[in-house]
Amino acid sequence: MTHALENVVTDNETLTLNHITSSLDHVQLAMLLKLQRDSPLHWHKGFWVLTRYADVKAALQDKRLVNRAPAPNRKDVPLVQAILKMLKRGRGYDKKHWFHYADSPYHADVRKLMREELNRQLPDLRQLFQSIADELLEKIDCDDEQSLQKGFVEPFPAIVAAELMGLPREKWRWFDDLFGGRQGDDLSTSLCRMESFLRDPLAKRGVLPPGILCALSDGCDADNLLSEEGLLPNSVLFALGAYVNTRQLLERCVEYLLQNRGEMKRIRRDPRVVSFAVEEFARYFSTTSFCSRLSTEDVEIGGGVVAEGQCVRIALAAANHDPEVFAAPHRIDLTRHPNPHVAFGSGLHLCVGAAVGRTELQVSLACLARRFR
Ligand code: HEM
Repeated sequence: MTHALENVVTDNETLTLNHITSSLDHVQLAMLLKLQRDSPLHWHKGFWVLTRYADVKAALQDKRLVNRAPAPNRKDVPLVQAILKMLKRGRGYDKKHWFHYADSPYHADVRKLMREELNRQLPDLRQLFQSIADELLEKIDCDDEQSLQKGFVEPFPAIVAAELMGLPREKWRWFDDLFGGRQGDDLSTSLCRMESFLRDPLAKRGVLPPGILCALSDGCDADNLLSEEGLLPNSVLFALGAYVNTRQLLERCVEYLLQNRGEMKRIRRDPRVVSFAVEEFARYFSTTSFCSRLSTEDVEIGGGVVAEGQCVRIALAAANHDPEVFAAPHRIDLTRHPNPHVAFGSGLHLCVGAAVGRTELQVSLACLARRFR
């Protein structure tokens, strides 16, 4: 099996994906695209891989395919390793408290608390993000990749995450230090440290400023939508979701725009381009390249059957490069329209912060482009 997959690389000499970098490399994507053509439901080392757009979309919307905490045979994925380690340490809660891995009503209840709080904040976010971005960009040389990285790409999504959660702005370093990878910690250490950081603010129930922590905490008090044991893990999960994906995507976008200054100028000349550009970057870079589901019964999909109890990895990145849906999928076209990508997922687990993430990217890239001559 491995041998067959390795061959794919040499079969794809003509595939030019110039801008895909760390989160999803050329080789991995080339393999997935080969599977997309030849073996759309592919058995690989103990789980299925699904790669065609139509199948990916159908799988994400199929309620028989549920999201569960990772099984031990998926130790290859760093996030999976981290979560497994945390669960193993028996930290006073078990996996049923992570809403992302639960079914309704728990999943729907916690999601509702997050969604309602984000909707409450949304009308003011564009202006808030603009002031954060301007303040950061003013202090740095926007022509210099390193200062952009240190002075903008690192702090911006971290400050935003702190604001969304209702943490003091200066706590942004928590996010960057823990999840930005500077200290070289593995992700499980980072998750545990975020947990211990959040323990303190969450202990001040009743005096929490407005934000996600307050909304989740109220959810425990008022309607018992969230169990006490669920408060901390779901706050950590939110912190991770809010920061990591946005940081990775922003990094890719800035890198691309610095290397393609004509595109930067295009955004500056016509700010309407930025919302299309963000959709295209989300599609092309597909920073969340996979999600996984467990089958609760035999499900016919991709020309085969995912049997009850089997796991399927859903390749969002491959779906977002499916030539059946996207013309010239390996080209970045800043005005691509329509662009029905699945970079934010789909179905019950559709990214709860999709609107916030989009706004973050649109505002930050527009602010950056304005500073280019
Ligand atoms: C901008 C880049 C982002 C990308 C590409 C992204 C991508 C995704 C994807 C693909 C999922 C679905 C995972 C699955 O189906 O298993 C997801 C879920 C989630 N995202 Fe995002 N996300 C981004 C930003 C954000 C932001 C800004 C927040 C918070 C404000 C956030 C919070 C979450 C949460 C809490 C979930 C779990 C939802 C659930 O299980 O119901 N994400 N994200």
